Amino acid sequence: MTIIDGAGAVVTGGGAGIGRALARGLAAAGARVVINDLDAEAAAAVAEQTGGYAVPGDASTEQGVRDLIAAAREQLGWIDIYCSNAGIAVGTDPQTPDSTWQRAWEVNVMAHVRASRELLPDWLERGRGCFVVTASAAGLLTMLGSAPYSVTKHGAESYAEWLAATYAHRGLTVHCICPQGVKTSMLAESGQAGQIVLQDAAIEPEQVAEALLDGMAAGRFLILPHPEVRGYYELRASDTGKWLRGMSRMQQRIEEVERGLQ
Ligand SMILES: NC(=O)c1ccc[n+]([C@@H]2O[C@H](COP(=O)([O-])OP(=O)(O)OC[C@H]3O[C@@H](n4cnc5c(N)ncnc54)[C@H](O)[C@@H]3O)[C@@H](O)[C@H]2O)c1
Repeated sequence: MTIIDGAGAVVTGGGAGIGRALARGLAAAGARVVINDLDAEAAAAVAEQTGGYAVPGDASTEQGVRDLIAAAREQLGWIDIYCSNAGIAVGTDPQTPDSTWQRAWEVNVMAHVRASRELLPDWLERGRGCFVVTASAAGLLTMLGSAPYSVTKHGAESYAEWLAATYAHRGLTVHCICPQGVKTSMLAESGQAGQIVLQDAAIEPEQVAEALLDGMAAGRFLILPHPEVRGYYELRASDTGKWLRGMSRMQQRIEEVERGLQ
């Protein structure tokens, strides 16, 4: 018997990629899983594979989150684990329109705020609950080629830290997943920077799910499916200038490759 066996779990963006692997991993460990996705067919397919329930919809808007959590409570009775996983990689630099920055903010940050707003009252009363945020190594470091992604993933990681710091003593467990490249459609669409920076060390979504299950068993906050990220994170904190010089060299490499392709 683990903390996952018999638990009621929700996974947003569970129709594909990392979310699908999280849903499968949790179901294999004995959880009863609600799979949310914007793509109703994808959510239904994963629900069928996992013996779970599909609740399609937008997991970032206030109403979408409210409807999802109400439907999940109806199916599961109680939500023990909420994986706020849906995320988008949009925009590039300061020229990216405000509306795109705002979309990144809504999905990559406010989705977590809105979900915890709904879940916390019950969890604090009960004295337990588990909130999982899929952030990114970009939330600890940076993602060359996408300022909106980097900034909002830092926001996601920061919000997860805030939740843990504020409510751990009241029974809330928080895990923050921070992978580098993972072989999903998001990575496939990540352009030259994504291919150069992430492709070589890219892992399978199932490895992310495994890292989460291990981290849950060990009670770890930071889930690092790429262990080398810890070293980069330490370097960023201890010698930020050196870390930035390394990132600048990588940016120049990306630009050289892009020039070569023209
Ligand atoms: N793939 C990577 O290299 C990588 C690395 C680090 C972090 N991440 C993060 O992992 C998470 C999952 O990414 P992925 O690579 O599996 O992406 P993906 O694009 O393969 O899958 C994301 C799924 O989320 C769904 N979705 C998007 N917005 C939604 C919304 N508002 N409500 C409900 N569903 C929504 C999509 O329909 C899709 O099925 C994201 O938060 C992403 O930022 C991905």
